[in-house]
Amino acid sequence: MDVSLALKSAAMVAGLSDLRLPVSGFASHALVFGRPLIVSSGQAADSFRVSYHGAEVASGYFSGSTNKLLVFDGISISVSPASDEDIVNAVSEAVLACNPQLASFEVELAEDDLARRLLEAGAIERREDRLIVRPESLFQQSKPWLGSTRPAYPEVPVLTNGIHHPQRPPKPVGRVYSRFIPWLNTQLGFHVADLDSDLEHFHRWMNDPHVAAIWEDSGDLCYHRDFIASRLTDPRTLPLIGTFDGVPFGYFELYWAKEDRIGPHYEADGFDRGWHVAIGEDGFRGKAFVSAWLPSLMHYMFLADARTRRIVGEPIHHHAQQIRNLDRSGFAKVKHIQFPHKKALLVMLLRERFFMDRLLSPDLTGLSDENDQPVLGSLPRSGA
Ligand SMILES: CC(C)(COP(=O)(O)OP(=O)(O)OC[C@H]1O[C@@H](n2cnc3c(N)ncnc32)[C@H](O)[C@@H]1OP(=O)(O)O)[C@@H](O)C(=O)NCCC(=O)NCCS
Repeated sequence: MDVSLALKSAAMVAGLSDLRLPVSGFASHALVFGRPLIVSSGQAADSFRVSYHGAEVASGYFSGSTNKLLVFDGISISVSPASDEDIVNAVSEAVLACNPQLASFEVELAEDDLARRLLEAGAIERREDRLIVRPESLFQQSKPWLGSTRPAYPEVPVLTNGIHHPQRPPKPVGRVYSRFIPWLNTQLGFHVADLDSDLEHFHRWMNDPHVAAIWEDSGDLCYHRDFIASRLTDPRTLPLIGTFDGVPFGYFELYWAKEDRIGPHYEADGFDRGWHVAIGEDGFRGKAFVSAWLPSLMHYMFLADARTRRIVGEPIHHHAQQIRNLDRSGFAKVKHIQFPHKKALLVMLLRERFFMDRLLSPDLTGLSDENDQPVLGSLPRSGA
């Protein structure tokens, strides 16, 4: 994939409106209904429309210059399985993802009952007589990205190898996360690794010298089949495959930190999570892609269980390339750990930092398209 072609330039953003939506629209809630809700610019300046399966399901306008106000003219729920809450959240996501400098905006809704449901979910908040959307609250709603709101799995203690930790939920299957990436104009997805359909590329990636140098897991098909099968069986681990527009590009292994090898090395909480990565496809390496999958993977873990307050990692201590990526993505360097096989750096990302510092929106300063235009969705910040 040619990155320069994929990046969205400001010139390609629809009109000169305050909305700055991609010309082809912003595709939200891709997991929920099979087809996403498309938020695109309307005929009039600053107006927007939301469509599902080609039919218009909502319209309104956004005034971003002075009062930063999102107004819905109408929301129709009769032609779509999407609820009116889903539609408001889709437009809010599109506004915030394409305009990440917005710290908040006001929303005007005709219906009191809709406002009450959004207030109860925390998607909006009331300030005096105004309704406000804030990115740190909106991006903690799980349905737009995970496809559902999920209750916390019961907290039942179990022992694994003498370690006391919460019993883990059954593994999900299929697609677990989906997010539209404005600067790539692409849908990023994560799905649980499938022994049949993912084995071939997983096998190829693990034998890539770039990956093998760190993972040391090169081998034959049989070895890699057993590798994935063991991760699927172990309640501690969740093996995921990342895709851009459906094309697999990398392997991600999530784990629960408490009963992992890292757990005894710090005061692990029962819901801390950690992760390993192997990007296998050359065409999906580099800043435009890392800044898409890395924050999104963290987003997935924070949304999958609201009790997950920290995400850890343990890169080998001299892996400067990945340590720099982790630093740019909000991970703090905690200490060195001496494992039998490697000296690692313990790194940690706080839930509060991730959402309050809006780390889902990366700083893409310096990333531009072939016309030297800034890309869509960048939040410049001094010192990540
Ligand atoms: C390490 C690995 C994940 C890095 O991915 P990559 O696609 O090769 O990306 P690179 O490290 O070359 O580049 C990442 C770029 O994104 C930038 N970046 C990273 N996170 C970012 C963020 N949150 N926001 C903005 N930019 C970010 C980096 O600064 C860097 O940009 P720069 O080169 O302009 O400084 C990948 O090479 C890989 O899988 N390697 C083999 C296995 C491995 O090492 N795994 C890690 C074990 S801990």
